[in-house]
Amino acid sequence: MHKGFTIWLTGLSGAGKSTIAEILARRLREAGAKVEVLDGDVVRTHLSKGLGFSKEDRDTNIRRIGFVCELLSRNGVIAIAAAISPYREIREEIRAKIPNFVEVYVRCPLEVLIQRDVKGLYKKALNGEIPQFTGISDPYEPPLHPEVIVDSSVETPEESAQKVWDKLEEMGLIAFTRQPAET
Ligand code: ADX
Repeated sequence: MHKGFTIWLTGLSGAGKSTIAEILARRLREAGAKVEVLDGDVVRTHLSKGLGFSKEDRDTNIRRIGFVCELLSRNGVIAIAAAISPYREIREEIRAKIPNFVEVYVRCPLEVLIQRDVKGLYKKALNGEIPQFTGISDPYEPPLHPEVIVDSSVETPEESAQKVWDKLEEMGLIAFTRQPAET
């Protein structure tokens, strides 16, 4: 049993938003839920194709993702957004439109992200090869009152996903009864 709602993962590039989104999606689907993931990197290849990383373009990207999340949640689907979404004001704008909005701040210290640098983008940004890179040469405004805070420098992705799962149960958004083990 589940309601339609939106899980909104915000945080710096490489913090682990997509990984946590995929773990949650898999677990929710295994429990029988209808789930869609809207990942910034993926959305930028179609729905937001052509948009860059100016404040205006980021706001447009985030509003589009928010719009789809709103449509999905309104129709009983669980929408999971994984996008940097650096600006607090736009996240709040989307929160105001979606009745069941669960904001998850995926925290990770910048030093750790620079060291991990999975996509090699921090090195380039630090060398000035990527302008307006979030956390290096562009702002990131952390949420002030997120429903959940996870920290990928001290938790495994599974532990972070579990924290979100617990919150969803606590908020009464999911209530999956455990299936009896097959004999
Ligand atoms: S958002 O700011 O509009 O929310 P989004 O999550 O869609 O960003 O896309 C972020 C991804 O785009 C990063 O994970 C990274 O792979 C890539 N990227 C390319 N240029 C930038 C940049 N200047 N700042 C941040 N991310 C960038």
